[in-house]
Amino acid sequence: MTRRLLILDDDADFAISTSRALALEGVECRIAPDGASALALLEVEPVEVVLIDIRLRHEDGTELAARLHARHPGLVMVIMTAYASVDSAVAALKAGAYDYLRKPFFLDELMRALERCFQLVELRAAKARAERELALMRQIEATSQLAAGLSHDFKNMLAVIRANLAVIEERLPAQDGLKPYAGDALDAALTAGELVTRLMGFARQPVLSPEPRDLRLPVRTTASMLARTLCAGMRVECDLPGHPLLAPVDPGQIGTALVNLLINARDATDGRGRAQIALRHVWRGGDYARLTVEDDGPGFDAGGLDHALEPLFTTKPEGTGLGLSMIQQLALVSGGDFRIGNAEGGGARAVLDLPCLKPCTGPDQGSGENM
Ligand SMILES: Nc1ncnc2c1ncn2[C@@H]1O[C@H](COP(=O)(O)OP(=O)(O)OP(=O)(O)O)[C@@H](O)[C@H]1O
Ligand SMILES: [Mg+2]
Repeated sequence: MTRRLLILDDDADFAISTSRALALEGVECRIAPDGASALALLEVEPVEVVLIDIRLRHEDGTELAARLHARHPGLVMVIMTAYASVDSAVAALKAGAYDYLRKPFFLDELMRALERCFQLVELRAAKARAERELALMRQIEATSQLAAGLSHDFKNMLAVIRANLAVIEERLPAQDGLKPYAGDALDAALTAGELVTRLMGFARQPVLSPEPRDLRLPVRTTASMLARTLCAGMRVECDLPGHPLLAPVDPGQIGTALVNLLINARDATDGRGRAQIALRHVWRGGDYARLTVEDDGPGFDAGGLDHALEPLFTTKPEGTGLGLSMIQQLALVSGGDFRIGNAEGGGARAVLDLPCLKPCTGPDQGSGENM
């Protein structure tokens, strides 16, 4: 995570030398000489921590700290004060500052204080992520229960409707004006049957296969199957690692996830675009298999980015809005995660990370394949 700090101090020499020293410690610094420029900078720059001198020449630093806190409550503030002004330090802490340092201080004192601040920022981000995932899990669970309850009975009723329609359609003479109506009704009943089957698939919780499997196989098989059929008008490229990538996941679920992503790519590009699939080992404090699918369509719009992982969210007339949330469900129960976003070129990008075994090979050459 990038560590970004704003130094709010009208002592330019101090601010510049501190920012140079902190850059060597991996902290990206911005400098503002007064409150107005600090507030303007915070509107456009993502900064998590601010170091404020409360003894500014033309402003009351304590009052400024209170204003910054009111405007950006998530900002973690460290105030700097002279030895004699402990009272004002207490006032600044009351104004929302997280810590304070007495000037002059050594770099390692500053680094220790900043370390605590950045840890707080990371903890908050992790908490927000966990809350988002929990909310999604709840939505997925509620939808699963609804789907499980409805789909079983609905499927039986549909079977009766389909059987009766088939008899009617078959018995109507070819020239009868009602025959096309019966045919349309039968087609609609078949489509409804497919929808129910998808809902039942959603209601079924993904099962973790106890035995780790090489993920290259389901990815390659699914990609080439779709390249020949549903995505035949597209350029489907598949980049697989040169060594086995073993993960304790049902290969069928990886295949289904990839089908969902490729069909989304096809829909986004009117069936004529490009889909790039990549499978890679990544280290994120643990071993993960990363499946990425990127297309060259228009990408997610703002509403799509915010809601596409929610079950039943769809912008397609025929969509069920279950594709991405099924992948999200697989990621959550497997201890991985699933993210969507837009690639730099503008197309959509989906990234599924699943815990895997450490690959036992040398450097990975990879294998780019056109399907
Ligand atoms: N590759 C993509 N490019 C742009 N938007 C996308 C892409 N993939 C998904 N979306 C957006 O996210 C929404 C949700 O996708 P999701 O796959 O969950 O459901 P769906 O495709 O609408 O229906 P289905 O359940 O049949 O998959 C889509 O309706 C679309 O608006
Ligand atoms: Mg879809």
